[in-house]
Amino acid sequence: MRTIAFVTQKGGAGKSTLASSVAVAAQAAGERVFIIDVDPLQTLVKWASSREASNIGVEYMPASKLAKALAALEKKGVSLVVIDAPGHAGEEAAAAMRVADLCIIPARPNAFDLWASEKTRAQVKDEGRDYAFLLNQCPPSQQSARVELGAKALQAMGGLLAPLVSSRVDYQEAARLGLGVCEYNPDGIAAKEMKELWSSIKRRLKRAGAKPAPEKASAEKPAAAAHSAPAPKARPAAKAEAAKADVAVAGKAEVEEKKGPGKKSARKAA
Ligand SMILES: Nc1ncnc2c1ncn2[C@@H]1O[C@H](COP(=O)(O)OP(=O)(O)O)[C@@H](O)[C@H]1O
Ligand SMILES: [Mg+2]
Repeated sequence: MRTIAFVTQKGGAGKSTLASSVAVAAQAAGERVFIIDVDPLQTLVKWASSREASNIGVEYMPASKLAKALAALEKKGVSLVVIDAPGHAGEEAAAAMRVADLCIIPARPNAFDLWASEKTRAQVKDEGRDYAFLLNQCPPSQQSARVELGAKALQAMGGLLAPLVSSRVDYQEAARLGLGVCEYNPDGIAAKEMKELWSSIKRRLKRAGAKPAPEKASAEKPAAAAHSAPAPKARPAAKAEAAKADVAVAGKAEVEEKKGPGKKSARKAA
């Protein structure tokens, strides 16, 4: 099982948007995916409540319960955990960084986001974790000097994931409907971006090797096994629900309140 965390000390960079769409793209590519929302705003818990499909479990988790939840998810056969962190420094973001095999730091091509990326990178490095940047909400033409400068700055700071993610209505519409862009508009450019992004993340995870996070070291599979094990093909909704129940059990003692995602029907119009 691999864990990726979307982190940056800046709201609005696109953590929740990208976490949900990458989760959906990875699920479509054969991963068994579980999303852990450690943001007290619970954006992705709300996203899940508008989601009709139950093939991706989503659960809010306080920082203190993360390690135990990950061990439970691994036992359940989850192959990829996606953590969505809040847009400020704090215990939740630090806990997410600590358990992640790869911290993904999204930034928009503007000075404020780039400064926040630098601060976040420093914190990720302090935690001794691996990281990569991601440039989000680029103008769709991607020709602007601002984007080029942003990309260069992030490259210089230690690695930029491909592709540059553009600003597209599909991301906003998909989020509103509890979908990923690959579900909302499978043939759209945003869907193509997210498929490519998942491929980049997967390659990056492989390259990084499986350095077990300290908190889950005892439950971690050996690196080679974790990498070579094919993701289970069948991902029945019941399995995601069962994994979710397990996480709930792992977190029960300290979680004040847990809310299961509802199954409201919400589909793209026409
Ligand atoms: N690539 C994108 N294209 C269009 N809108 C985006 C994109 N990424 C994020 N957004 C929008 O930007 C806003 C902030 O995104 P969000 O994912 O909530 O950021 P964060 O979780 O980092 O605070 C939301 O309104 C979202 O719809
Ligand atoms: Mg968010």
